Amino acid sequence: MSEKIEITASSVAAVVSDALKIIKSAQDLAALKSAKPATIGDGSPFAAMSAKLGKLPAADKATAGKLITEARATLNTAFSEREAHFYQLEQAAKLETERVDITAAPITQPIGARHPLSLLQEEIADVFVGMGWEIAEGPEVESEWFNFDSLNFDADHPARAMQDTFFVEPTEMHLVMRTHTSPVQVRSLLERDLPVYVLCPGRVFRTDELDATHTPVFHQVEGLAVDKGLTMADLKGTLEHFARIMFGPEAKIRLRPSFFPFTEPSAELDVWHPGAKGGARWVEWGGCGMVNPNVLRAAGVDPEIYTGFAFGMGIERTLMFRNDVKDMHDMVEADIRFSKQFGGVL
Ligand code: PHE
Repeated sequence: MSEKIEITASSVAAVVSDALKIIKSAQDLAALKSAKPATIGDGSPFAAMSAKLGKLPAADKATAGKLITEARATLNTAFSEREAHFYQLEQAAKLETERVDITAAPITQPIGARHPLSLLQEEIADVFVGMGWEIAEGPEVESEWFNFDSLNFDADHPARAMQDTFFVEPTEMHLVMRTHTSPVQVRSLLERDLPVYVLCPGRVFRTDELDATHTPVFHQVEGLAVDKGLTMADLKGTLEHFARIMFGPEAKIRLRPSFFPFTEPSAELDVWHPGAKGGARWVEWGGCGMVNPNVLRAAGVDPEIYTGFAFGMGIERTLMFRNDVKDMHDMVEADIRFSKQFGGVL
């Protein structure tokens, strides 16, 4: 077909007008792209016409060349204008589908928050790990021997009734839900080489009704140090350091004589809480004392060579007076709004 094409103003105009029609009839970018071979691409009538240019006599070349150049410019412009038009339509459609209503309430998927008791337990563990102590663990279902006998609670001694115990059936198994973390003292001494410096945070159980200040399941943290030459001064220094980290540099501690079967002498531990709501004051924090020689003996440690100190306190109670939590229910109900206040949001 190309052999017959003459390059004249009217023949060029005819080719251009056919090509423009094809370009205009394309209804989207893809159609426009595929219209290229029929309009200005290889094999198009226009390309065939341009190819003839070289074969024209020199005299006709200038005029024909100009016509072809103008025609190419016209077609290219038409092409790119149509392309820009489709591109704009496409963008507009895209914006429409991706429209975001910035006034809409966000859909948040709450993941959870760590419980403040876990955070406090870790904070306490960090204080002692920082001093080179180790973390020890023991079972929550404990043998009566570890929970009481090894800790110098006599079988008939009223001290055994000090703690209201959940006994596990059948009772001949002599298993209890541990009433305190002190059984870990004897376990640690049996399992480890001396000297022993361990901290045991854990869950304990007593037959208390849940009310504002009691819960039948709660947490304690137990500390035990057994080494050569330890005295009450070491106990006091350790607790004072602990208190300052927990309650600020102005915190101090006070020991009041008391009784526990597993320590001798024994003391109640009070802490001066400088940041207490309503003003600085003394708060009862836990129990402590020098490990009773009978406990050391039960664990196979010679009390003539080694001495030790121990302390224990409630984690719920610590959280209550440190963070002014008034009701124990808040700690056991697992309401995320309560936990979130302590910052452990995941
Ligand atoms: N186990 C005691 C209690 O639960 C606390 C305590 C621990 C006292 C260690 C002295 C030494 O009350």
